Amino acid sequence: MSAMADCSSELPGLVPTALQRFATVVEHEQMARDTWRMRLRCPKVAQQIVPGQFVMVRVPERSDPLLGRPFALYDVYENAAGEPEGIEFGYVVVGKMTSLLESLTVGDRVELWGPLGNGFPLPPSGHMVIAAGGIGQTPFLAVIREALRRKIYGNPFREVTQTPSRITMCYGVRSREYIAGIDAFHQEGIDLQIATDDGSAGHHGYVTDLLKPLLSEAEPPSVVYCCGPEPMMHAVAKLTEAAKIPTWVSLESPMACGFGACFSCVTRIRQDDGTWDYRRVCVEGPVFPADKVVFEA
Ligand SMILES: Cc1cc2nc3c(=O)[nH]c(=O)nc-3n(C[C@H](O)[C@H](O)[C@H](O)COP(=O)(O)OP(=O)(O)OC[C@H]3O[C@@H](n4cnc5c(N)ncnc54)[C@H](O)[C@@H]3O)c2cc1C
Ligand code: FES
Repeated sequence: MSAMADCSSELPGLVPTALQRFATVVEHEQMARDTWRMRLRCPKVAQQIVPGQFVMVRVPERSDPLLGRPFALYDVYENAAGEPEGIEFGYVVVGKMTSLLESLTVGDRVELWGPLGNGFPLPPSGHMVIAAGGIGQTPFLAVIREALRRKIYGNPFREVTQTPSRITMCYGVRSREYIAGIDAFHQEGIDLQIATDDGSAGHHGYVTDLLKPLLSEAEPPSVVYCCGPEPMMHAVAKLTEAAKIPTWVSLESPMACGFGACFSCVTRIRQDDGTWDYRRVCVEGPVFPADKVVFEA
């Protein structure tokens, strides 16, 4: 990576549309406790990426941490002419890379490769429900803006043919100081419901408590999108499978390459014949039908 030129280049073989870039930090703002939003100037990646895809990020000239880390698209930002100019991602500080990212300031550069992964499918009409846990909320601003036709993504851009009649987002966090970026969700006019583990804001309890009544409404959700800690996604998947609601989960497996070469990210996916086999979360995912994922018990 250190020999990478300051221009786009294709990643070898497996993900022909993904680019390697140096990208400049143009904004870096705190969203909540230990939670930041970083805006990177990278027009070529911004032109192609779609909601639910991710990029791998590392810091140039640093060998510790050696490997890049995956971060989901929060949103694309545009230049004065309305053209995609760069991307934003949100992150929570948990370890080596995210601590290093926290120390970066405007004008610093990162190495970035992407867009990677499959992204969320376009939603059907009807009631779209989103279940987000912690920093697992970050893919959903772009998902919502695309579903409501407020923004278009991809090259060629993905055409939205059906718009949800209603969007409800159930967002669970540990406590109120971790609630991040909710003004942006409110601005989209969706029904945003909050749950906190300690009861310091919204419902006192888990995000699944918010989900359950929605599943038993007279007109049940047409689809559920979910991202968060694995036990939370497993709990959501059990509920929606029992209610027979199509559900998509975005897995957050640790990754080394991000483009299909190292197999460090594999997860067990059910096959049509009832057996399971490994699939790479970075290429075949990170978004999978929830009923295909073999969650750890
Ligand atoms: C497709 C995808 C998209 C993602 N999108 C996002 C996103 O948008 N935003 C986001 O914040 N995250 C996202 N993640 C998760 C993110 O990639 C990880 O949080 C990130 O890799 C952490 O890197 P790190 O170097 O800071 O942590 P690491 O140092 O690699 O640590 C990883 C985990 O191990 C724990 N850990 C570290 N050291 C120790 C230790 N000594 N003992 C015990 N535990 C330890 C940390 O607490 C942490 O939970 C995504 C993951 C995937 C796969
Ligand atoms: S991270 Fe290397 S194959 Fe998925």
